[in-house]
Amino acid sequence: MVSATPEVRLLELRAFDFEPAMWYSSVSLLRSGSRGWLEVYARKLLSLLDLSIYGLNRVASDSEEIASDPYLYQTLGFVLTSLTRHRRMLLNYIQSLTGSRPTIDKEALTTYRNMVEVSSGWADFIAGCKLALRLLITAARAGVFYANDRNLRMVLTALIERDYEYNTYIDDFLGRYAPEPDAFQPSEAVVSTVLSLAMSHFPQEPVAEQPPLRWVEVCGEDEIPAQSGTKMAVMDGWLEVLIVRSGKEFYAVENVCTHEGGWLSDGLLYPPHMVSCIDHLAKFDVRTGEVLAQPHHGLARPLATFPVKVEGGKVFVGLHFT
Ligand code: FES
Repeated sequence: MVSATPEVRLLELRAFDFEPAMWYSSVSLLRSGSRGWLEVYARKLLSLLDLSIYGLNRVASDSEEIASDPYLYQTLGFVLTSLTRHRRMLLNYIQSLTGSRPTIDKEALTTYRNMVEVSSGWADFIAGCKLALRLLITAARAGVFYANDRNLRMVLTALIERDYEYNTYIDDFLGRYAPEPDAFQPSEAVVSTVLSLAMSHFPQEPVAEQPPLRWVEVCGEDEIPAQSGTKMAVMDGWLEVLIVRSGKEFYAVENVCTHEGGWLSDGLLYPPHMVSCIDHLAKFDVRTGEVLAQPHHGLARPLATFPVKVEGGKVFVGLHFT
């Protein structure tokens, strides 16, 4: 049974679809296995990183409320240092891939200036920075599971490990201007500005998937109850995968919840196709990774899915990287 990827038409994008759209278009592009698309992808991450850095630097230098609060000011300094370090790692990677070091990203700079122009105040502007960061991490997660390049996966693993901290800290900055930062939505003008950068140069149609996959045996077929059940497997010594059985069908998704890192193997299975994380009750479709219900605070992202086949009573999961 091979998991399907929902078709994403970026031209029909609606604002609230932005994270799934970013995820599925990144996955689609990375599954092509093309070095050319890998470069497009890495440069896209760099643009979003630059936009986040430009935006948060402006907050640090121009927001009197944040500059006068020692905790917020120090935290913002930490986030900027961390982002700048990841930027350098990404620059090194792009240089190793293309043979040249990228210069200032004019598109990110223009987008930043537009965001300053269209935002209606600090809350709106900081929410735009949060959106850019969330899209960056969403796209980076795709690379960790699907990029067939070990160096890039290492760079991105380091980046996504900061996700929870970035979310928490940026909500602290936003909380200085908005009473409910977690629920605060940027204006349509800011969303469109950030999305214009996030989605430019990405393919507008799904990129054809190109085998071969690397099949790894994870368990015996009879280790999961015949009617329905789950089993957690660790692949390559680091990748936790949840194998889900629903009658004759098998699926595999990443085991770590995309909200705040709960283990789906500790969660609940709602046959035939839904798993729920018990930490904050996010629900996912195991066929596509789609978020079916968001947690009671914050946002979960789509789960990575992996193809599964059963041969000779053994269950195999397909990986997109060698
Ligand atoms: S960690 Fe899974 S819903 Fe929060």
